[in-house]
Amino acid sequence: MMKINVLVISKLEKNLDAMKRMIDDEEIVVLGDSPGGAQALNKIENVSPDMVIMFLGAGDTDVLSLTERIILNRPRTHVILLVEYMDVDILQKSIKVGAHNVIEFPTSPKEFAEYIKSVYHNESIRINSLNEKQNIAWMSRVVTVFGAKGGLGKTTIATNLAVKLAEKGKKVALIDLDLQFGDIHIFLDIEPSDTISEFVQQVFTPNIDSVRSYMTVHSSGVHVLCAPKSPEYAELVSAEKVQSLLSVLRTYYDYVIIDTPPSFTDVTITAIESSSTILFVTGLDISILKNSKLSLSLMDSLQQRDKVRLIVNRAVDMSSITVEDVQKIIGCPIWAKIPSDYKVAVTALNRGVPFVISSPGSTLSQSVSIVAGALISGADNFDIQFSSNKKIKAFGEGRKLFRLFKRRNEIV
Ligand SMILES: Nc1ncnc2c1ncn2[C@@H]1O[C@H](COP(=O)(O)OP(=O)(O)O)[C@@H](O)[C@H]1O
Ligand SMILES: [Mg+2]
Repeated sequence: MMKINVLVISKLEKNLDAMKRMIDDEEIVVLGDSPGGAQALNKIENVSPDMVIMFLGAGDTDVLSLTERIILNRPRTHVILLVEYMDVDILQKSIKVGAHNVIEFPTSPKEFAEYIKSVYHNESIRINSLNEKQNIAWMSRVVTVFGAKGGLGKTTIATNLAVKLAEKGKKVALIDLDLQFGDIHIFLDIEPSDTISEFVQQVFTPNIDSVRSYMTVHSSGVHVLCAPKSPEYAELVSAEKVQSLLSVLRTYYDYVIIDTPPSFTDVTITAIESSSTILFVTGLDISILKNSKLSLSLMDSLQQRDKVRLIVNRAVDMSSITVEDVQKIIGCPIWAKIPSDYKVAVTALNRGVPFVISSPGSTLSQSVSIVAGALISGADNFDIQFSSNKKIKAFGEGRKLFRLFKRRNEIV
């Protein structure tokens, strides 16, 4: 059950007692009390109440200035003012400092509980809608790495990109939403004590401090929220929880990088819809291209297509299949190409050190660096041309693949 945590404030002991006696409901918890002033500010900072209930006596300017400070600085802490007698003067003063929940001292705990709940509910809706507007400004910061199959290099790209952005001085969160088989902790060689499943079970109204306490800090400075330790915990993580998690994260981090499973779950769709950019990873084989094409048409129906930036991973110079062919087959321009380098990629994975750290000079690292730079500069609509120093010989089966594409006209 969701609880509303409240703090009661009055400089008079008898008022505090009277307020506490009026709060008698299993959904409302009194976290503590305070006489007001600086002490109250400290207490609010420490216990983070959902709501502050204050007694406002005639000529109580202290309480009014405290109210103003809370409303300005802690918009998520809702304020209720209790007055002995309501009159126009006291109402005007309250409104002037931004308080709009002012009532006469309650006479029944039941009615008071209902009032507290309705204020909490209405204020939460108001704050969330404000946040939604802010989110638009912050949208550019949420980047989901998606792909229509396993093994495409989604996690490789997500982890290296996150580390690269951190190297460039950005505050970066990396979230593993491959809830069943997430392996970011292996790529980064970290041992999370908590994961997203503990987070969703233990935190009901997340704020940045509570979220951070479930994240693991990587040596690069990236804050990582790892996938559950066991696949059966995945179902605890609902789309709603992920949505509220992301709205908290985006207020704090410069970039929130999200790794995903290769499927359109509710959670994945939530991530996609909350993103400004979808790095859509594809590769050069017939079944990947088929699935990619299908996924892109789903992106279309979700009206998310314009956020998609297509990345061809393990792009090799093939004689038969050109970039133009891939673009034609998938029906989407290629945004970036990342070369194939098995040795660098696998050594990095085995050692648990992202290649942007362990092999910064490699062509792989350079291409990730270009992608990071493009995200930062917002250079969204260009083709990041990557030219490999090493000429990689075309796949032996290049011809065969090409014939397959032609034969399976129905899918291309
Ligand atoms: N550009 C690349 N060149 C060579 N190997 C790569 C490249 N990108 C990824 N790999 C390797 O492919 C495998 C799968 O990558 P991973 O990132 O786990 O894929 P996904 O998250 O899409 O399932 C890993 O062993 C990884 O090291
Ligand atoms: Mg993965």
